[in-house]
Amino acid sequence: MSVDLIAQKLFSKIKHIGESRRLAREEETKSKSIGEALEKRLEDAYGVSFSSEVYSLCSYSSNALIPYVSSLLMLDMLDTCFNKSGIELPQNLSALDIGTDDWHYVNALYSFLKVRSKSEEVRLEGIEFFGYKHEESVKKRANGLKNVVYMTGDFFEMDVEPSYDIVFAMHPLAIPEAYEKWGVPFRQLNEFWERAMGMVKPGGILFGCGYLWNEGASALNSFPKEGRILHTQYYSLAQVIRGIAPARLKSFHDNAIMVARKF
Ligand SMILES: C[S@@+](CC[C@H](N)C(=O)[O-])C[C@H]1O[C@@H](n2cnc3c(N)ncnc32)[C@H](O)[C@@H]1O
Repeated sequence: MSVDLIAQKLFSKIKHIGESRRLAREEETKSKSIGEALEKRLEDAYGVSFSSEVYSLCSYSSNALIPYVSSLLMLDMLDTCFNKSGIELPQNLSALDIGTDDWHYVNALYSFLKVRSKSEEVRLEGIEFFGYKHEESVKKRANGLKNVVYMTGDFFEMDVEPSYDIVFAMHPLAIPEAYEKWGVPFRQLNEFWERAMGMVKPGGILFGCGYLWNEGASALNSFPKEGRILHTQYYSLAQVIRGIAPARLKSFHDNAIMVARKF
């Protein structure tokens, strides 16, 4: 091959790389402005401020981005699903969130419930197997939120009483390997759903969400029969927000959602 031909090929390759990078930058800028608009819309609708310190407090020193991205995802996901399924919530409701981890999104969830139930106050309880590890950060984050209770314990040991208007199961539905990684005993998904549904008042809502389509879909298969499915959806937060592409943080995309009303 002549030197000229090699130079020509090299030049065209460099040009091609330059063009792909330009397109990627353009795509990122576009996605970023959609992300900013999304953040602003959610802030206005739910009276939250993502710049507030509560969206950066985290008990794992390694990733301070999690509370912010997790709150934004939770708020957008709930907003989207409630709009699509037309759910209305009663005033002064009581809610349970199963498997909260560090409850990164507690402020977002609380604000969402207040706005959607048109209430000044709501009662929000969260239970986490390893809650004792996160007590300090949750306390700081939930400071000022009335009637928020964070419990350490096994959800399977809670009394099954139909006392909540809405029960959330945000990503505790997973395959046995994930439970092993968490260090939580694995229980069959149908048992999980049955208990969760047992805690919902008649006419109340069960909101479940599984990471990844396969896990989520298998969770859906075992959804309890005593509920009427209102809505199922695949949800993924695709926008670049504050320079972060959520898809980079594995757990913040690929959500399989199911919403049911108890008979
Ligand atoms: C993947 S994390 C999800 C955390 C949070 N809900 C979210 O969406 O970011 C699932 C959490 O559920 C907790 N969990 C699973 N089974 C539980 C049980 N039976 N009782 C209490 N917590 C449980 C795990 O310890 C883990 O922290």
